[in-house]
Amino acid sequence: MPEIQFQGNRYSLDENENLLDGLLRQHARAPYSCRAGVCHSCMLRVTAGCSPSEAPSLLTAEQIKKGYILACQTKVTGDLSLTLPTRDEVPGILTELEPISSTEVAVKVSTRLPFDVSIGEHITLVSNEGLEARYPVTGLSEDLQTLECTITRSAGGSPFSAWIHSEARTGDRLMVIKNG
Ligand code: FES
Repeated sequence: MPEIQFQGNRYSLDENENLLDGLLRQHARAPYSCRAGVCHSCMLRVTAGCSPSEAPSLLTAEQIKKGYILACQTKVTGDLSLTLPTRDEVPGILTELEPISSTEVAVKVSTRLPFDVSIGEHITLVSNEGLEARYPVTGLSEDLQTLECTITRSAGGSPFSAWIHSEARTGDRLMVIKNG
């Protein structure tokens, strides 16, 4: 019977039990929302044990390499130690794309956990396809769960800014990383 260590507690799950279901069944304080692999609010990181299998397209190769899993999409087959994503690296959702000019767009990203950053500090945004770029924070909500950046498109600019300007849609998922 797989043993799961999470938030200082130990949970026994059934072989092949859904990880999120097994944690919630035992009243673990695991975050979740859609239960469908869409919102990424159930994202956890494996710190010990083998990363269990899950639908591979739901996370980027970089996220998988770092040990991230989506609890709602994971069947447990062995012992695992898990942590929440750190506050320096949290999943987010693009909630607003507002063109300011022909070359600038203001974006809002909402994160599931408060993100410890200040206006003027730089963050890295990573798209679900693995494109990434670094921007200063230009706005921040009081609960620290919505941040704003202005993204400029220029000739020879980053593939991330080209993606934001041409393909990104509200609801798209991103990782938000605080730069040291
Ligand atoms: S709860 Fe939404 S992705 Fe798992």
